[in-house]
Amino acid sequence: MDKFEIVGGKALQGEVNISGAKNAALPIILATLLTSETVILHNVPDLRDVKTCFKLLTMMGKSYEQIGDNSFKISNAVTSNIAPYELVKTMRASILALGPLTAYLGAAEVSLPGGCAIGARPVDLHVKGLQEMGAQFELTDGYIRSSTHDGRLHGATIMMDKVSVTGTENLMMAASLAQGTTIIENAAREPEIVDLALFLKAMGANIKGEGSDTITIEGVEKLHECEYSIVSDRIEAGTYLIAAMASHGEVVCHNILPSTLDPVLVKLKKANALVEVKDNSIYLDMRNRDILPVDIITAPHPGFPTDMQAQFMVLNALAKGSSSITETIFENRFMHVPELIRMGANLSIQGNSVHCIGVDTLKGAQVMATDLRASASLVIAGLVAQGTTVVDRIYHMDRGYEHIERKIRALGGTIERISS
Ligand code: EPZ
Repeated sequence: MDKFEIVGGKALQGEVNISGAKNAALPIILATLLTSETVILHNVPDLRDVKTCFKLLTMMGKSYEQIGDNSFKISNAVTSNIAPYELVKTMRASILALGPLTAYLGAAEVSLPGGCAIGARPVDLHVKGLQEMGAQFELTDGYIRSSTHDGRLHGATIMMDKVSVTGTENLMMAASLAQGTTIIENAAREPEIVDLALFLKAMGANIKGEGSDTITIEGVEKLHECEYSIVSDRIEAGTYLIAAMASHGEVVCHNILPSTLDPVLVKLKKANALVEVKDNSIYLDMRNRDILPVDIITAPHPGFPTDMQAQFMVLNALAKGSSSITETIFENRFMHVPELIRMGANLSIQGNSVHCIGVDTLKGAQVMATDLRASASLVIAGLVAQGTTVVDRIYHMDRGYEHIERKIRALGGTIERISS
């Protein structure tokens, strides 16, 4: 398994180009199952999960061709409606094939995604919403099998019991081809939901209210070809902003929509960062500025994103004072805490909160990544720690951070990938 060897202690300084958002690319790539016509996608990030998504598409009869560094052409009609376990177990987001396949083919066979490091990750809200749209389900031998009476879903008013990002995405995709009107209430509001809605509308879908908690979709008979550029990754940008902050450096993030990061920028400014935003870039300066402690409670957008919780914890670990971080979305998203403690952080887990007492420095150590964002927080900690840090199991990082070594080196960080 590959490792990163990081020599810490340098202030990061420079510019970084933010890539397309993983959590927009995955649903958008799978939304191409809703048409047999050709779709061209730009700003597709070069990530392991994206490669897995394309592999899933080809297993279902679609074809794709890379037509540029981050551009792809996807064509053909889907011919198989099976998303097999051996692929779904490597990428939970495969569940996003369920809605499109059920809507386009009238039936689907998708392996139940296992839980993952951060929690059980059930999909009951996805199934319940599709049932309200007329799908019947069998859950046998680890597979979710959906079917419809006459091959077509019908509109419904669906109240989501919990805010679910991919749950909202699955239902919005399915509703795009359903007969009649679907209203999703208590819908997720993340920027990636908005991006998926804009993509579906580019294919001819009739959607209103995306970005609010009520989305209304008038089903259409057919979706058509389109060309679309994926929104940039607010979590990648937030990760580099925090890395520059924790190292008391300065950074410009290019190719990012600052409004998608508002909940994070508010907290970075409270932690004493100087932040300036332009149309599609964010400048942050933390030179000669103390890190101030900031209490964080994660929540669905427009609250503080759970995907930034682990990274922010490194800031609080080095702040002048104490703070608390409460995780309300996932039941087990503190696996970076024991690793940060091994680097000298003064953190204590109390239920779904972590109490942080800032220390002056962290010390390099051998640590292990457990999930995508925990690994990001360990890389940030390694970049600011005294000495050398080795982060093991960094295949987690390759799932969500495009060309991470190249980008960190461009900011002056010392990082080497050790293949073993
Ligand atoms: C999406 O996961 C993201 N993944 C996650 O990003 C992100 O952390 C999460 O949303 C929250 O923002 C993608 O978009 C591919 P949820 P998702 O459904 O959709 C419960 C990353 O690091 N729930 O919004 O799976 C669930 O257990 C990843 O990029 C049900 O109970 O998350 C959780 O407690 C990690 N039943 C809460 O809702 C369901 O049917 C929110 O989960 C669905 C979810």
